[in-house]
Amino acid sequence: MNLIFLGAPGAGKGTQAEQVCNALNIPTISTGNIIREALKNGTEMGLKAKSFMDAGALVPDEIVIGIIQERLAKDDCKNGFILDGFPRTIPQAEALDRMGIVIDRVIDIDVADEVIAQRVSGRRVCSECGNSYHVEFRPSKVEGVCDACGGTLVQRKDDQPETVVARLKEYHEKTEPLKAFYEAQGKLKSVQGQAEIADTTKLVLEAVGAAE
Ligand code: AP5
Repeated sequence: MNLIFLGAPGAGKGTQAEQVCNALNIPTISTGNIIREALKNGTEMGLKAKSFMDAGALVPDEIVIGIIQERLAKDDCKNGFILDGFPRTIPQAEALDRMGIVIDRVIDIDVADEVIAQRVSGRRVCSECGNSYHVEFRPSKVEGVCDACGGTLVQRKDDQPETVVARLKEYHEKTEPLKAFYEAQGKLKSVQGQAEIADTTKLVLEAVGAAE
C-alpha cells in the first residue's frame, strides 16, 4: 500500500507513521529526516536546505522532489511505503503523479494549532539516531537519554516557538490545499488527532484499513 501522511508540523505524522510501518511492514520515508541527516553529514543538499529549515520555511520543491525520486527507486519501496512530510505543495504532488507513483490513501491527521505548540515545545529528538520523544507524552526511560541507542536527546532548532509559528503559516498556505487536491481524487481520509498517541494510532490503522 502506498500512503501519504498529511498534517500540520507536530500533528503526529512521524509518530503515527512509525506505528503503521511496523503494522504493514513497509518503510517510512520522511523528507524531514532525510534533510536533517544530510545536514548532519554536511552534504551539499543539507547545506542548501539549512537556511530554509532553520527559518521554518519549506525547502525548494526541486530539492525535495529529487530526494523522493531517488528514495522511491530503492528496492524496499516495491511493496509499498509511507510518505511522511511529502508532498508539501501542489507542485510536489504533481511531480509524484508525473513519476507514475500511484497513491492508495492519504491520511490527514488534524490537530488544532494551539495543541501543536504544546506538542512541539516538549519534543526531544536523539542527536544520534533521530528517535523522537516528548517530555510529558512520550518520555524516554532515562531523562535526556535515547532508549534505542543511548544518544543525547536535544530540542530541534525549528521547534523554538517563533519558528513553529512560521512553520504553521507555511503549512496553512502551501500544504493544506493538498487536502482538497486528494479529496478530489477520493483518496483523503481525515483522522482527528487524539490526546493519547495510542488512541490516534487506532483511528489511523482503521483509516488505512489495517485495524485488527
Ligand atoms: P519535518 O521533519 O517533516 O517536520 P514537520 O512536518 O514540521 O513535522 P514534525 O516532524 O515536526 O511533526 P510530526 O507531525 O511528524 O509530529 P511528531 O510525530 O514528531 O520537516 C522539517 C522541515 O524540513 C520543514 O519545516 C521544511 O523546512 C523541510 N521539509 C521537509 N519535508 C519537506 C517537503 N516535502 N517540502 C519542503 N520542505 C520540506 O509529533 C510531535 C510531538 O508530539 C512529538 O514529541 C510526539 O511525541 C508528540 N505527540 C505526537 N502525537 C501525540 C499525541 N497524540 N498526544 C500527545 N503528544 C503527541
